[in-house]
Amino acid sequence: MSKDLEGFDTLTTYSSASSDYLVAAEEFWGFVSDDTMSQLHLRPGNRVLDFCCGPGPMTIRTAERVGPTGYVESVDILDEMLDITRRRAAERGLRQVTVRHGDIDTLPPGDGSFDVVNCSLGIYFAKDMVSTLSSFWSYVRPGGQLAITTIGRRLFEPVLPVFFEACEAERPGIGTYLPWTRTEDPDVLGSLLDEAGVSGAVVSTRDTPMPLATPEAWWPVVHGSGLRSLEAELGTVAEARVRRRCEEWIAEHRVTEINVGTVRAVATRTESVSGSPERRASEGENSAQ
Ligand SMILES: C[S@@+](CC[C@H](N)C(=O)[O-])C[C@H]1O[C@@H](n2cnc3c(N)ncnc32)[C@H](O)[C@@H]1O
Repeated sequence: MSKDLEGFDTLTTYSSASSDYLVAAEEFWGFVSDDTMSQLHLRPGNRVLDFCCGPGPMTIRTAERVGPTGYVESVDILDEMLDITRRRAAERGLRQVTVRHGDIDTLPPGDGSFDVVNCSLGIYFAKDMVSTLSSFWSYVRPGGQLAITTIGRRLFEPVLPVFFEACEAERPGIGTYLPWTRTEDPDVLGSLLDEAGVSGAVVSTRDTPMPLATPEAWWPVVHGSGLRSLEAELGTVAEARVRRRCEEWIAEHRVTEINVGTVRAVATRTESVSGSPERRASEGENSAQ
C-alpha cells in the first residue's frame, strides 16, 4: 500500500459514510477523543478550533468542558458531517458551538486567539501537511495547545492484513491509496511538525485493544472508517466474499479484539518564540522519541 494521497476520494468516502461514521465515532473511535481530551488544559470560557471535525466527537467533548462562556468552532469540508455536528450540539444545548465549512488545504492565516486547536484523524488528508500544520499553529494563542491525532502502524491487527489479502484476491492492485499511512510513523509526524515550526511537540504512539464482540462486528468497523473506500471499489458481490472471508477467519482464530494504533502529538505554544524547536518525549507512554 502506498503513501499516495492520489486516488483516495475523501468526499465520496466520508460523505457516504457520514451516518455510519457517527455511530463508529462514538462507539468505536470515541476513545481517541477521550485520549486527546486527557492531554488538554481546557477551562470554562476557553476557545477551541476543531479541524476535520467529522460528526463532532471532539467538538462535543470540548464544548462540554469550556461551557456556555466558551466557544468551539468546528470545521469540515463535508456539509453532511457539519450537519451532524450541528444537530448533536443543538440536541445537547451547546450553543457555544459554531460549525463552518472549510478546507484545511486553503486556510487563511490564523489570528492566534484559540486556547486549543485540534485535528483528530484528519491531517493526512492535507495535500501539503507542513503548510497545513503551520496554518493550524497560527491559530494557537501564546500558551495555547495544538493537538494532532493520527492513525498508527498496527491498525486493526490482526484482521486488517486478512482484509487486504481478500481485497487483493478480488481486485489485484486495489487500495494503493490509504492516506493515513502518510503519518503512521511517529518520527514522520514529528518531522512534519518541526518543519512547520511547531516547537516542543510531544509525540507518542499508543496501541489500544478494542473489543470485537463477534465476527460480524468487523464489517461495521470497515463501514465506519476510511476502509469504506475499498469496499466501494469492490462492488457488492466481491464485497460479500471479502466480508465472509474476514468473518470466517475471525471465527476460526477466535479473535475477540483488534488493535487500534494511534499517534498523538501535543504542542504548547510558548510566549517567547526565541530558541530552536525541540521535541520532548512524554514519560511513561509508548513514546516515539
Ligand atoms: C476520519 S474523519 C475524522 C473525524 C473526527 N475528527 C473524528 O475524530 O472522528 C476525517 C474528517 O476529515 C474531513 N476532511 C477530509 N479532508 C478535509 C479537508 N481537506 N478539509 C477539511 N476537512 C476534511 C472529512 O470530511 C472527515 O469528516
